[in-house]
Amino acid sequence: MQMTDSPTVACPAHNNTDQRKSAAIAIANTQPDEGAHWVKRPSPARKILRSKEARQAGASADLVKFKNPEHAPVFFLDGVDHFNKRRKTQRFLSPTAINNQHFAVMTKVSEDLLRQFRADGRAKLEDLSFSLAIEVVGEILGLTNSDRAARARRIQRVLKASIANAGSSKLSRAWLNLARAWRLGIFFLADVRPAINARKHAPKDDAISVYLEEKYSYFAIVIECLTYGTAGMLTTREFIVMAAWYLFENAALRERFLAGDANDQLAVLMEILRLEPVAAMIHRRVHEPVEGVAEQPLPAGEKYGIDIRAANVDEELAGECPFAVDPDRAKRQQDQGRYLSFGDGPHTCPGWQVALHETRIFLQQLFQVPGIKLEREPDISWNTQLGSYELRNAEISCTSSI
Ligand code: HEM
Repeated sequence: MQMTDSPTVACPAHNNTDQRKSAAIAIANTQPDEGAHWVKRPSPARKILRSKEARQAGASADLVKFKNPEHAPVFFLDGVDHFNKRRKTQRFLSPTAINNQHFAVMTKVSEDLLRQFRADGRAKLEDLSFSLAIEVVGEILGLTNSDRAARARRIQRVLKASIANAGSSKLSRAWLNLARAWRLGIFFLADVRPAINARKHAPKDDAISVYLEEKYSYFAIVIECLTYGTAGMLTTREFIVMAAWYLFENAALRERFLAGDANDQLAVLMEILRLEPVAAMIHRRVHEPVEGVAEQPLPAGEKYGIDIRAANVDEELAGECPFAVDPDRAKRQQDQGRYLSFGDGPHTCPGWQVALHETRIFLQQLFQVPGIKLEREPDISWNTQLGSYELRNAEISCTSSI
């Protein structure tokens, strides 16, 4: 089936109406970079992402050259340098690490945040989800030697500055560069340096300890912290709010989620993410001819914008009734259920299981809070730099525990 933007095709077993919350804003804002071919169909999308001849081209990565790959964020690298850099952090993101190390942090931080929520009786959902995401990725990196609340504020500021749009004037660009340098400096001094100093004396099982063992410069370590911050904290903050919104609204889905085992809960979450992927489009430049995008094969060297949202609701990938929320879909298709929500190929998201488990653990606890209620639905906006939706001002309330 050719993907359409808002179909209401009759479906025998499910409601196949397009009810995606982020569809309208995503359609209005998603298009490939200038000169890139728009890839909506799953087969060429996967082929491109898995091609050995594909190079990362998001954030103009195909135009940036790093003299020293150590100083380059993993997202910007390709080939052997990319493989080597990914390998260093892979073990901190593996299912074993999640089981042995991160479950405890995900559970404890969720408990702490929800205890405070119960005492206050009200909270903004995105504040809770961001605090959780900061703590979980922070622990994986080893950012644990500064005051938690102050660290969260600094990370929020440094990430905001690092993805902000400078505007067109020289003055605004200079101002933003200054703001970036200032916030990065403060983040380094207050959070990264204490973490480095502590690990010099007593290495731990975290990424900063490995970077020190590998003799990374301080600058390279800060760059890694920022990369994982952007990739792992900003995305998960949005996804947790989106998943909660679906569960607040859909009683049957919520009951299934709460009654399910870990695998069933993951199936529910991945199905929500399929319909509402946080990353809308990713780019590659491919140094071999590509078939299936245009009528004729396209020559080597072309750039492609892979439309994750379109591919995820194409029947070729999702099966029948692609707009229905159907957590059994993946099992029926003997698929893992990730679809293209976390990308594919060598750059596929290394933190996908971390993101899903922290969401699962947090929501499991959230929906058991007495009197839990969504007082105000989130506003949806678009983050042009990240190419993703943002959900703000989702207010929740509960029976106060005081
Ligand atoms: C719901 C949450 C998340 C979503 C939707 C998501 C999505 C994605 C996608 C689509 C990519 C591929 C980008 C591309 O191919 O151009 C990616 C890459 C990446 N993600 Fe995630 N991600 C999430 C959470 C996380 C977490 C929790 C971490 C870290 C703990 C993380 C770390 C990364 C990194 C480092 C990359 C770059 C990998 C590379 O270029 O080799 N992500 N993510």
